Amino acid sequence: MKLLGKVALVTGSAQGIGQAVAIRLAQEGADVIVDDRAIGESAQQTADAITKLGRKVHMIAGDLAKTADDRRVIADGVAKMGKIDILVNNAGVEKRADFWNVTEAEYDFVMQINLRGTFFITQDFVNHLISTKRPGRIINMSSVHEEMAFPHFSTYCASKGGLKMLCRNLAVELGPLGITINNIAPGAIATPINKALLNNPELMKLLESKIPLGRLGTPNDVAGLAAFLASDDAAYMTGSTFFVDGGLIRNYHEQ
Ligand code: BGC
Repeated sequence: MKLLGKVALVTGSAQGIGQAVAIRLAQEGADVIVDDRAIGESAQQTADAITKLGRKVHMIAGDLAKTADDRRVIADGVAKMGKIDILVNNAGVEKRADFWNVTEAEYDFVMQINLRGTFFITQDFVNHLISTKRPGRIINMSSVHEEMAFPHFSTYCASKGGLKMLCRNLAVELGPLGITINNIAPGAIATPINKALLNNPELMKLLESKIPLGRLGTPNDVAGLAAFLASDDAAYMTGSTFFVDGGLIRNYHEQ
């Protein structure tokens, strides 16, 4: 087990990729703080799976869009678990809209969770590490769309593009403190964020035809990389983005 004795906080871990990551980190020995906007049945499922693995778990509700919540989530997590070593900034949202119709409310909703919330919860985590004089790991769940265009999702792309530079900048600024930061860039993964797509067989077929490996990914396809990036094996890796996308971002055909 690569993460024995470590405490990880995974935002948005009531479902999808976050849930798989939280469970995977526990399989590697970490105790886990499960965080989501609301703590309901699905967060409880994540927690139960972690408990079953013999690891400690603590559940916290927090709205990433609110800096006061970000502060409380870190403080409460530290109070309950003693410390936090690994922060997985997984929570994210998207809203489809033509650029010319995007409302301020839609813009704020996406940017506040994906970028602003990630920024400030990371700041709180880093301050915790600084005050306890410890190294740490930050893993951002970005997207192939930190790099690749996604028409009609301009807010999402702007937020993920921001995460790309945040990762690079913090790698330089936090490296001397022994804190690493890396981005995971999933492609099309079968999770609740893709509900509309998953329920549209025609769109699914088209998308699968664009993925060299011929299928959507699963949350578990992503979780293993998070466990690796959190482990000592990744001690010398910082400031990079790692794609888990079945080859989607490299795909180009003339016909
Ligand atoms: C988005 C999905 C999209 C996928 C591939 C993800 O980041 O959340 O909606 O299907 O990228 O384009």
